[in-house]
Amino acid sequence: MFKINDNYLKLPGSYLFSTIAKKVAAFSEAHPDASIIRLGIGDVTQPLAPVIIDALHKAVDEMGHAETFHGYAPDLGYEFLRNAIAKNDYQDRGCDIRPDEIFVSDGAKCDSSNIQEIFSVDNKIAVCDPVYPVYVDSNVMAGRTGTYDPAAETWSNVIYMPCTAENNFTPELPKETPDLIYLCFPNNPTGTTITKDQLQVWVDYANRVGAVIIYDAAYEAYISEENVPHSVYECQGARTCAIELHSFSKNAGFTGTRLGYTVVPKDLKCGEVALHSLWARRHGTKYNGAPYIIQRAGEAVYSEEGKKQLKKQVAYYMNNARIIYEGLKESGYTVFGGVNAPYIWLKTPDHMDSWQFFDYLLEKANVVGTPGSGFGPSGEGYFRLTAFGSCENTKAAIERIKKL
Ligand SMILES: Cc1ncc(COP(=O)(O)O)c(C=O)c1O
Repeated sequence: MFKINDNYLKLPGSYLFSTIAKKVAAFSEAHPDASIIRLGIGDVTQPLAPVIIDALHKAVDEMGHAETFHGYAPDLGYEFLRNAIAKNDYQDRGCDIRPDEIFVSDGAKCDSSNIQEIFSVDNKIAVCDPVYPVYVDSNVMAGRTGTYDPAAETWSNVIYMPCTAENNFTPELPKETPDLIYLCFPNNPTGTTITKDQLQVWVDYANRVGAVIIYDAAYEAYISEENVPHSVYECQGARTCAIELHSFSKNAGFTGTRLGYTVVPKDLKCGEVALHSLWARRHGTKYNGAPYIIQRAGEAVYSEEGKKQLKKQVAYYMNNARIIYEGLKESGYTVFGGVNAPYIWLKTPDHMDSWQFFDYLLEKANVVGTPGSGFGPSGEGYFRLTAFGSCENTKAAIERIKKL
């Protein structure tokens, strides 16, 4: 008789966003005339930039001719894209990352959940709390997290690093030594970030204790302040302790088009074994590459025209972030984030818990956000709004909240 991977049964409840979707659907059915504004999920709303559409059209045409047709992509991704990434995202910023250390993929969600496979199941992970749920859940599925305590909403074998207003949403070095450290800056869900000096402390710590940092830079394009690092490789010594994840979803609107990449420097080793060769083996065995047409679209992101058009798109969302941030502040809310990230993290008012505030906002303003507690126990008492809506909807949502 077959057995299932019963680690899956340990996963508590349903995924945060399906719970929200169900609540919103029930509200909508009970109030069919309500015009609901969704500032909950981190999905983009602006169309792909013209330069990307042109690249897609061109690549589609190539696929229609024998001379320019492309089948399976090379294991690491096409060189034209890896060269553009290495130059623009790393070398131009003074980071020593080469094209053959870049693995093109179909997004950071898959990579952030799959990367744990190349590590022993005995490794202990450390995560920020609140956190993007994928890091923990993928480790639960792998059997690395121990038992779940429903009252505390924590796993026995996970090190939680609280990030709250009290520590300026900056994790402190953990007392217990982890093997794998997940960091995401600019952060989802708090919208806050850390300085290069603060990140250097983490890199030094990881090198000292022999831990690996899995650095999620999905929101890097939203950084507006000078002293905030765009990559962990801006820190000295990161080549021997850090893997970096990138997404084309938020900087270029590829949430439905799917493209990302992971950097594994060749200096990152466990004894004599390079993690690069393990990830290459995994990639080659379990993944068959992002489509040629999508990789060509990714290349267009780095063209001069592409950079111009995408800067405008990011500015559009960051204008929404400003509208939300300032509007909430004017209404007396305590607000964080929104300066280097498209997320605004607010303290729920009047001692409401995160889900009470979710219901309150949905019922009284017909605005959907995300309860902070859904991202971890330290998210309780907070609430996330995203800047990814249209400007009109964002303004309308804030006007409604102001009237509450
Ligand atoms: C922190 C973080 N990493 C990764 C992702 C997923 O990125 P992708 O669309 O490339 O899979 C998200 C999506 O919301 C995210 O918030």
